Amino acid sequence: MEKEMIIVLDFGGQYNQLIARRVRECNVYAEVHPYTLTLDQIKAMNPKGIIFTGGPNSVYGEDSPKCSTEIFNLGIPILGICYGSQLIAHLLGGKVETAPVSEYGHTEVEVDGSDVIFEGVSSPTVCWMSHTDYISQVPEGFRTTAHTPVCPTAAMSCPERKIYATQFHPEVMHTQEGTKMLSNFVYKVCGCKGDWKMDSFVESTIQSLREKIGDGKVLCALSGGVDSSVAAVLLSKAVGKQLTCVFVDHGLLRKNEGDEVEAVFGPNGPYELNFIRVNAQQRYYDKLKGVTEPEQKRKIIGEEFIRVFEEEAKKIGAVDYLVQGTIYPDVIESGLGKSAVIKSHHNVGGLPDVVDFKEIVEPLRLLFKDEVRKAGRELGIPEYLVNRQPFPGPGLGIRIIGEVTEEKVKIVQEADYIYREEIAKAGLDKGLGQYFAALTNMRSVGVMGDFRTYDYAIALRAVNTSDFMTADAAQIPWEVLAKVTNRIVNEVKGVNRVMYDCTGKPPATIEFE
Ligand code: XMP
Repeated sequence: MEKEMIIVLDFGGQYNQLIARRVRECNVYAEVHPYTLTLDQIKAMNPKGIIFTGGPNSVYGEDSPKCSTEIFNLGIPILGICYGSQLIAHLLGGKVETAPVSEYGHTEVEVDGSDVIFEGVSSPTVCWMSHTDYISQVPEGFRTTAHTPVCPTAAMSCPERKIYATQFHPEVMHTQEGTKMLSNFVYKVCGCKGDWKMDSFVESTIQSLREKIGDGKVLCALSGGVDSSVAAVLLSKAVGKQLTCVFVDHGLLRKNEGDEVEAVFGPNGPYELNFIRVNAQQRYYDKLKGVTEPEQKRKIIGEEFIRVFEEEAKKIGAVDYLVQGTIYPDVIESGLGKSAVIKSHHNVGGLPDVVDFKEIVEPLRLLFKDEVRKAGRELGIPEYLVNRQPFPGPGLGIRIIGEVTEEKVKIVQEADYIYREEIAKAGLDKGLGQYFAALTNMRSVGVMGDFRTYDYAIALRAVNTSDFMTADAAQIPWEVLAKVTNRIVNEVKGVNRVMYDCTGKPPATIEFE
């Protein structure tokens, strides 16, 4: 059965991933592609609809990203959002100008409920606006379907050609009825039936893994995190004993983590994964000696993972496939798409050029985190494992700013352990997206007892996020921070100062490197 799909055509806006996620939440599969996709490529994918994203440019700028006007003649329904809406207006003969008043943030929008996009949506409805240009004249054949006091065309449509556009962002949570609007587009305009469900994903992935792997041998890189655990269990269901899971303790794990992972996935746990633990701590410390540049650290850690897997594969003999728990945001953030390289995630951009496996298999490559969790539940993985906060592949290596040493690893492990313990005691653990301690490379003067100290500063971070693409610094109660600070400076040797990171993403990232 061919699955229904919506193409999200990326014009460089910051919410592009979010559009795909929201569409998928409506049980319709969506993929993000660069706006440079050719008409033939689009036709070959046979999409049920196309969504133009927002973007930072002005449509009348010379270098602004544009697609061919032929796209409107394909007969495929189109929804333009923000820049995408202006682009539709511009390409089809309407007028886009700098707005006399820019709109940013929560805005009350009056909608015309007879337009299919706004069916079942209240009027006024609160939407998220972020624009300095606006459509001052809609193209011929279009009518305005929503407005605000300062934006005469907050939405427009031409139902005859199945073209729709909103100046606001239906994909962000602040647009209170945005999901309804996207659902109206995919179901009522594109005629989707909603065949993207996790039970069918799990079933069809197991089937296709079996077909691909046949009676070959597979090695799965298991870190104990949500993604690789789900990938391992998926593979185990698909190929049973042909699978070996290798867990590398690179000496950059959280306190006790190596033993905890072994307890769950090792021979005494509930899964049959042919679990092998490789203690490679010293090897990593040696490779990382003297290295301070974050991307170089990431690449070294990524390469070393692969080398360990290759060695283990040789011991097993005739292993063709390496399985990794790479997920969609890893792929996008590693710059394999069009967007800038922010960081090389160790299991994607951090791969060395030559890898001694016939193929790398990434069964979760197209899933967002919440979808991976759903797949995990489908596979019967317990809730406490499925809901664990993410821990990056390069581990504490990217939470120690500058050179990594064994001594620094110990410091950050202890501080992080205390922080996690107190967060859990305060009952905050389930509500936070991610929280951890990092070691700043800064040392400063302090006084303890009657002595001068010159020790490291620990940074505490906690963020609220639903997708890890954007995040807000969490407002941890002061009493909790004070308690954690007090315990860290008293219990962790080498630390005399604790700081809390108040920065969101953007402009910071969640991890420090
Ligand atoms: P950033 O720091 O880019 O992190 O805001 C976003 C999310 O990704 C995690 N992260 C990684 N996960 N390998 C991973 O498996 C990596 O190299 C990596 N780098 C960052 C990070 O913990 C956060 O959840």
